Amino acid sequence: MAMSSGQSYPVGARIGDRYAVVRDLGAGRDGHVYLVTDEYLATDVALKLLAPRPGQAATWDEAQLLEQLRSDFLLPVFNADVAHPSDLRYITTAYMPGGDVGNKAAPCGVTTQQAIQWGVDIAHGLDRVHASGLVHRDVKPANVYLTEAGNALLGDLGMAHRLDPSGVAPPDGTPATVAPEVLGQGGVCTVASDVYSLGATVFYLLTGRYPADTRGETQRVLERVKAGSKRKVRDLGPHVSQSLGQVIEKCLSIDPADRPGSALDVANRLASAKVHDRVWSLVPDHQDHLLCMAGAVKRTAKPVTVCAVPTGPAQCNIEVRLPSGARPSGAGAT
Ligand SMILES: Nc1ncnc2c1ncn2[C@@H]1O[C@H](COP(=O)(O)OP(=O)(O)OP(=O)(O)O)[C@@H](O)[C@H]1O
Ligand SMILES: [Mg+2]
Repeated sequence: MAMSSGQSYPVGARIGDRYAVVRDLGAGRDGHVYLVTDEYLATDVALKLLAPRPGQAATWDEAQLLEQLRSDFLLPVFNADVAHPSDLRYITTAYMPGGDVGNKAAPCGVTTQQAIQWGVDIAHGLDRVHASGLVHRDVKPANVYLTEAGNALLGDLGMAHRLDPSGVAPPDGTPATVAPEVLGQGGVCTVASDVYSLGATVFYLLTGRYPADTRGETQRVLERVKAGSKRKVRDLGPHVSQSLGQVIEKCLSIDPADRPGSALDVANRLASAKVHDRVWSLVPDHQDHLLCMAGAVKRTAKPVTVCAVPTGPAQCNIEVRLPSGARPSGAGAT
């Protein structure tokens, strides 16, 4: 069956004379994903049909490199190819029933310890991509999958592109996580732009929000990103330690030269960031509260919630409470 763009394949349809569609897994910015049975290997895999690139030759220089990429931190690519004569690229990977970390981190992020662990995993996967002379170009929470053991694997390598000898690749990315220098005339992707997206991804894992204000039309969001307008991680997540906040802000430096020099550097900085003793995370805001956090039990310390309660324009009380509703000794409203 010839593949064509924009077409949705029903259950049972065959793709590339090898794959039979079991279920539609959804569509993204750059293609459509199906759970398929690989009839050669008699196993189920995820197949992403990538959107066509009008006017470009039916070749895919990166395909072979992608198949060779193997790491404990990358979603394994089984097959990357172009289906002739339709010129549609496709990529097959392991099917990940555990879903992506973006879903796990919505709406308030995960604990700082969990965000660091996944951030380090993603950074190691990204470093492997860079070591092959490729840039990923779409690092974001929705492109990071969870194993049964709870580890994070960087996936969606379909947009990966070979770096030219000067270390640049054509621009691409998702508004919420793309680096500002990728946008606009002459924009390019580099190792540094992937490092920015990695920082934006860990920012999301910590807070359930992106550094860019993503509300409104895509064009407006892109204009904000390009202008360098962004929020600070500790403004949206006061539970994030100063040390960890500094790592994130460095990844999100507007000048690419100010960012950590490699994804491995980010992994090391994340792993050695000092974090609070207690395990803190954001929780959904209580009614009329501005921002609420929970600190889980730590050794002899009791679980506690900290809430910002507005008291007037640009003013709030900070309330510290035990689950019983009582205030812990020594804590008061300020
Ligand atoms: N290997 C996989 N295993 C399980 N689900 C997958 C796999 N790959 C993709 N999916 C799911 O298929 C859906 C579509 O994925 P897709 O990558 O096309 O979209 P996206 O990640 O939202 O955006 P983008 O196109 O920017 O990557 C998502 O819900 C995603 O979680
Ligand atoms: Mg994706």
